Amino acid sequence: MQMRMDYNNMMAAQIGTQGLTQADFDAMREKIAFASRMMAEKRPAMAWRELPHNQAEIVADINAYVAEMKDEIDAFVVLGIGGSALGPMAVQQALNHPFYNELPRAQRGFPKLYVVDNVDPERLTYLFQTIDPTRCLFNVISKSGSTSETMSQFMIIKALLEEKMGKEAARRRIVCTTDAEKGNLIKIAQEENYKYYIVPDGVGGRFSQLCPVGLLPAAFCGIDIAGLLEGAAQMDTLCAGPDIFANPAYMFAALHIIALQKGKNITVVMPYADSLKYISDWFAQLWGESLGKHFDLDGNVVNVGQTPVKALGVTDQHSQVQLYAEGPYDKIIVLIGVDEYRETLTIPRLYTDMPSLGFLGGVTHNDLIKNEQLATEYALTKASRMNMTLTLPRVTPQTLGQLLYFFEVATAYAGYLLNIDPFDQPGVEEGKNATYALFGRPGYEAKKQEMSNAPQKDAKYVM
Ligand code: PA5
Repeated sequence: MQMRMDYNNMMAAQIGTQGLTQADFDAMREKIAFASRMMAEKRPAMAWRELPHNQAEIVADINAYVAEMKDEIDAFVVLGIGGSALGPMAVQQALNHPFYNELPRAQRGFPKLYVVDNVDPERLTYLFQTIDPTRCLFNVISKSGSTSETMSQFMIIKALLEEKMGKEAARRRIVCTTDAEKGNLIKIAQEENYKYYIVPDGVGGRFSQLCPVGLLPAAFCGIDIAGLLEGAAQMDTLCAGPDIFANPAYMFAALHIIALQKGKNITVVMPYADSLKYISDWFAQLWGESLGKHFDLDGNVVNVGQTPVKALGVTDQHSQVQLYAEGPYDKIIVLIGVDEYRETLTIPRLYTDMPSLGFLGGVTHNDLIKNEQLATEYALTKASRMNMTLTLPRVTPQTLGQLLYFFEVATAYAGYLLNIDPFDQPGVEEGKNATYALFGRPGYEAKKQEMSNAPQKDAKYVM
């Protein structure tokens, strides 16, 4: 089973002057050659590219750990933010029952999953009113081992568990995922004798779904993690060559960057499947954080990026598609379709005397959602709006692994087409550092000074 990409509706032959022609690709020839060269040269440093091929031991360890722990706990709770939260949520939603946590345990077979990424004080407080923390396994995920949100959650939970269970028993309720050397979390994990997994060097937060960051939560929800990696490996084979016309991920990136140069500042990712709704959230971080950059690789100020927008078919047909079809010509709409849904639902033959309802009788929701996707594609194309379609034969661990890896490779390639570093996030670090300074963390005195030098707010602009 292989994911497919159809980009006909990006081209002038379908949408006229708003579309791309061979001349657009020709004009990008040098940038394309540069990006393909960078992807090959930098591959040894891109450890995330090897994850589909080198996680067999980790998978065995994780599966053994799940077997050992799963019946001891009611819920697996992820404490993490950014890549550490969005990936686990997206994969679980894609592959499990949509109301997974509400199913009886016997039907689920595995613990519930909660992902606590925000530090809104209501979040953890209400979670503790919902679950018994002594019956949970808390997975503290932080590549840097120092992110305030995650580490503060860890501190609250450690204290609570030790108070309720004692230090020894509490130890079994915490598992860490972090860098092998950097940050405090690895030191804490080793000192406290917590079980821990390593985020390999060269695997940044948003590229980490196929390492223990994503694999451990997925396995605790009963997901076939070897299948995810198998699908990613298949996509690696498909996306290995330098030629964009034979490499779907490179082509996806090239289409987006050429379109960006023509004023398409927004890309909307719109799956026609509830199961893929959170893939759009995961993609939004990947695309936004990787490509939104101030400097290029030569140190020039460029301020590039393309804004990712999340939508859901058919829901957003009744909310956003009016804007996509008739608003400014500033968007690409990426529809994600599914050939075969996991369930079939038939509409009964009622109201046969009412033509506006009768036609639905005997039709399946499967056909309805598919035809609505085709209808949206038609409407967008008729309105000369750039759109393209990714199709998964079914949503399975393999096809999902293909999709995740496809987006990762496309994002990296898009970064090099823009001549920026897709793997850093100085804008995020700036916010993290400003938070440390606000709390007077040692080492951030200069940042605190810089912040106090910023212009004071004027009361006349406060209403
Ligand atoms: O993609 C990234 O690198 C970031 O979004 C991180 O995932 C996020 O900031 C959390 O960082 P960390 O894993 O170091 O706690």
